Amino acid sequence: MKDKLIIFDTTLRDGEQSPGASMTRDEKVRIARALERLKVDVIEAGFPAASQGDFESVQAVAGVVKDSTVCGLARALDKDIDRAGEALRGANSARIHTFIATSPIHMQMKLQMSPEQVIEHAVRAVKRARQYTDNVEFSPEDAGRSEEDFLCRILEAVIDAGATTLNIPDTVGYSMPQQFGATIANLRQRIPNADKAIFSVHCHNDLGLAVANSLAAVMNGARQVECTINGLGERAGNASLEEVVMAVRTRQDFFGCDSRLDTREIVTCSKLVSSITGFPVQPNKAIVGANAFAHESGIHQDGVLKSRETYEIMRAEDVGWSTNRMVLGKHSGRNAFKTRMIELGMPFSSETALNEAFFRFKQLADKKHDIFDEDLQALISEQSEAAEVEQIKLLSLKVCSETGEVPNASVTIRSGGQELTGSAQGGGAVDASLKALESLLHTQATLALYSVNNITTGTDAQGEVTVRLEKAGRIVNGSGADTDIVIASAKAYINAVNKLNYLELRQHPQMVEV
Ligand code: KIV
Ligand code: ZN
Repeated sequence: MKDKLIIFDTTLRDGEQSPGASMTRDEKVRIARALERLKVDVIEAGFPAASQGDFESVQAVAGVVKDSTVCGLARALDKDIDRAGEALRGANSARIHTFIATSPIHMQMKLQMSPEQVIEHAVRAVKRARQYTDNVEFSPEDAGRSEEDFLCRILEAVIDAGATTLNIPDTVGYSMPQQFGATIANLRQRIPNADKAIFSVHCHNDLGLAVANSLAAVMNGARQVECTINGLGERAGNASLEEVVMAVRTRQDFFGCDSRLDTREIVTCSKLVSSITGFPVQPNKAIVGANAFAHESGIHQDGVLKSRETYEIMRAEDVGWSTNRMVLGKHSGRNAFKTRMIELGMPFSSETALNEAFFRFKQLADKKHDIFDEDLQALISEQSEAAEVEQIKLLSLKVCSETGEVPNASVTIRSGGQELTGSAQGGGAVDASLKALESLLHTQATLALYSVNNITTGTDAQGEVTVRLEKAGRIVNGSGADTDIVIASAKAYINAVNKLNYLELRQHPQMVEV
């Protein structure tokens, strides 16, 4: 019998720490449902002490997820642990994840605490967390740069205090695979009560080694990996879930363990996270990139046609790249639409929500012949976001763009119950439209990124536009989809402004407070 490898997904917590990847409560719930269908073991839903919004998001995820454990992050502070415990009260299975830094540089410079004080805080935090749940995880932050002797001391103490998972984070992505693997082996061997807890790892990708370090740890006895969909996360990101899971699944000859994941859900999760956060997936990204299973060279194509295993080590359909995708269109009925949405994990909460979505689906089908799953996802993204954050709505947009003339746009929006119309000229149709919007919204935010991706293929495909706005240290990504990319751009801009207005300032988990 192989050991079980626990997959702990932190897309909703560490993933959300990527600048611009902030998610609303409803977006988090949609991703959590997709992760549950993927069968991840633990979903880290957020950091409840960060803000009221984060608290409510964790509470909402805890309320809907039944088959995965829901986890909340807490610094080693009483008030953080109490907030996490409260947010998780409705969960079927709850975990509190508490942490404190253990590297000399973090203890001296950031915490200004002695090693003894750090141990005291850690033990107190774990004991307090045990009052809410018997599933408690402890992380010595910056373990990758901590002294092994000190790690042994603090980890032994927190196991005695009741920690059931010990997570070893390479917080700054500094470790090398061989070295990180050896650290896991040494800790397991040296800590006298090590057999009472599961060893976990949490690797960042600053040197591009997050997956390699995680796998080296698994080879040395780690039985939980913390990772994110598409490798989203603070700075260069976290270990990518799809890469870790598929490496272990594909190389069963090598690893003594496997996860319980339904890997056929991977691509759906990847697309959902990408569309919600506005972080596109690079085409050559392993497993989930558009080219991951595409063969360009004639020799490869010839080989694959003769025998797929010549150049493919995994089957595209095993990670969710479907070969015969169901396509809806203008003539599809309400029932076919509803059935497909349920299959895609996007059920409707009421008849009104279904009717509204079906109306929008018909509008899209008038403009676009084939409606793919990705189109349906974009449709729902817009609708649920609108319900939650929309204060400003696009009513109409008219653009004149002609060779030899300066493009001109006229836009009408509804904002705070009022209809407003503005116009502007610009360097192109998109520029003029965004300037016309800005003449009404006066956000004074900086446009840090503008990108367009086609959701599916063909000239009638919907373009998905991402707009990143920065204002007073806050960064948001807005997205909008339409068969007309100028309209998609205006929707994305408005979505970003709505998010700027909606998201409160939240605390960063690694911020010091003792
Ligand atoms: O990278 C890190 O150290 C973290 C901890 C909170 C586990 O995200
Ligand atoms: Zn992290």
